[in-house]
Amino acid sequence: MKLVHVENYDEMSMQAARAVFDKITSSERVVLGLATGSTPEKMYDYLVDMLNKNKVDLSHVYTVNLDEYVGLDADHPQSYHQYMNRIFFDRVDIPKNHTFLPNGAAENLEDEVAEYEKLIEELGGVDLQILGIGRNGHIAFNEPGTAFDSETHVVDLTETTVNDNARFFDTIDEVPKQAISMGLSTIMNAKSIVMMASGEEKADAITAMMEGEVDESLPASILQRHHDVTVIADRKALREG
Ligand code: PGA
Repeated sequence: MKLVHVENYDEMSMQAARAVFDKITSSERVVLGLATGSTPEKMYDYLVDMLNKNKVDLSHVYTVNLDEYVGLDADHPQSYHQYMNRIFFDRVDIPKNHTFLPNGAAENLEDEVAEYEKLIEELGGVDLQILGIGRNGHIAFNEPGTAFDSETHVVDLTETTVNDNARFFDTIDEVPKQAISMGLSTIMNAKSIVMMASGEEKADAITAMMEGEVDESLPASILQRHHDVTVIADRKALREG
């Protein structure tokens, strides 16, 4: 893994945006794997600015997201579909029909996960995957114990995650209890990966991912076996004071 040391969240975001921008502008056709959450928010801000200032044509860009909540349709304000529209798709000139997320409102979830996996394959695979990391070393919704050979699948959310998300909903019953997530083997199939990490709460996970054993108890450790991973981490995530 290649490690890029940066000062803080802002610099991490700028460097990651630059990596995505360079990939977009140097490719004739590109499939981006995109992530949601707090970590990539500012990366999208920088990327939107870079793309719009340079009037970059995005008709050669396709995107697939890592995950989506089960039971929320694409219009639900807390869905990742809406997150992506707000933070990226609606702010740039990307053809909407080039952007894909799992359908959390699908009637048949087993068909949906198989179709999502097939879709990624039909697009030719992910060229550049953006990732964040959870405090426990999860990537996407692949929690500790997820099989390294997992493909896109339905995940039961942990009680902690359900409770953490409760603040965004009127009642606990409305909080999604499951999600659809790319699996670890799906993520490993990406041709290149950029992981972002900021803040001391990510430090243990980053150290274990880079220096620990490759073990299913720390999902991100599988990335040690990938040949093109760049970790952009700030001082706090690297415990550099
Ligand atoms: P965060 O989540 O970006 O909201 O910290 C990262 C993750 O859980 O992958």
